[in-house]
Amino acid sequence: MLRVTVVGAAGYIGGELLRLLLGHPEVEVVGAVSSRFPGKRIDGVHPNLRSVTDLAFCSAEETPESDAVFLALPHRVAMTQIEQWRSRAGVVLDLTGDFRLDDTEVFRRYYGEEHLAPQLLGDFVPGLPELYRERLRTADLISVPGCMATAAVLALHPLVTHDLIDLERGAQVDAKTGSSGSGATAGPANLHAERSGAMRVFAPTRHRHEAEISRHLGLPTAMTATGVEAVRGAQTLCHATLRPGADAKAVRRAFRECYAAEPFVRVVAHQRGIYRYPDPKILLGSNFCDVGFALDEDTGRLSAIGALDNLVKGGAGNAVQCLNVRMGLPETLGLTFPGLHPL
Ligand SMILES: NC(=O)c1ccc[n+]([C@@H]2O[C@H](COP(=O)([O-])OP(=O)(O)OC[C@H]3O[C@@H](n4cnc5c(N)ncnc54)[C@H](OP(=O)(O)O)[C@@H]3O)[C@@H](O)[C@H]2O)c1
Repeated sequence: MLRVTVVGAAGYIGGELLRLLLGHPEVEVVGAVSSRFPGKRIDGVHPNLRSVTDLAFCSAEETPESDAVFLALPHRVAMTQIEQWRSRAGVVLDLTGDFRLDDTEVFRRYYGEEHLAPQLLGDFVPGLPELYRERLRTADLISVPGCMATAAVLALHPLVTHDLIDLERGAQVDAKTGSSGSGATAGPANLHAERSGAMRVFAPTRHRHEAEISRHLGLPTAMTATGVEAVRGAQTLCHATLRPGADAKAVRRAFRECYAAEPFVRVVAHQRGIYRYPDPKILLGSNFCDVGFALDEDTGRLSAIGALDNLVKGGAGNAVQCLNVRMGLPETLGLTFPGLHPL
């Protein structure tokens, strides 16, 4: 059994990691670190875990040695604690934004501050098995991408690798996200009175995930992000221009070839029905990312669409998938929940 620790275990991503790892047949959760609740049962904070475990939160100092540690901490906290956790676990999987970019200049532009551990940026392997599987097999430092970045990268990846879009014009990504994306400690903007019914543009330009998309695809990207009336879920509409000579058939083939062997990316290509385009509603709780596209062949305007649960394939589930890859386990272990319908 692998001994794993979750740091930031009282948060939304921490809770989702605990849910998945407690159900994982090859994992024993030996530590659930919280600075506010040491000694308190974890089901007091995550009520969905009642009767699943008797585990209590612990402090960082009490944490036992682990094979792997997951950092579900706020931005900036992970980079201040990274050396501490590296010395106590063989593998570190960081879910924060701290190590997602490999260039200090780009980091400064998007985060508005200096990186505190720039010497480590090049050592982290991006935690996206669909693009970096071989490198992940031996990685001791893994940085799991942002939720909207993951949806957009998986939607655009077949088009870039099959050279089907105008790479110079790049992509315009219109992202929508539910309120859990802001975390359990979010401020007044997430009060029910302020959030309910909102369609709130919170990042019209320079969202941090924009830099991740550009990095992974080598594509100029402009992204907008809007909070919508949902708790979970993220969807990205990625607008691009089809190259002359390419057509819908080539696009369909590119999606199929890219993802035929991927356990958690499903190509949605239906002509009819209310779910003919990727929709997070049927993905909640699951580790699937659904991808698809719409094309106007007369103008060459193409919209690649990605959808996922921000807390699962957009975070905790993707991290567990990376753990499986890194430890040589079957990649789908502990991750086979298919989502709910109706919901
Ligand atoms: N929410 C999402 O959809 C999502 C998706 C992908 C990635 N992420 C990333 O995952 C990380 C965790 O996100 P989240 O949504 O789970 O956030 P969250 O609900 O706010 O949880 C963060 C946890 O970090 C702990 N923490 C430790 N040191 C802290 C400090 N100095 N200040 C504040 N909290 C501290 C807190 O618990 P204690 O105070 O008890 O220790 C808290 O439970 C973030 O970096 C986020 O960007 C989030």
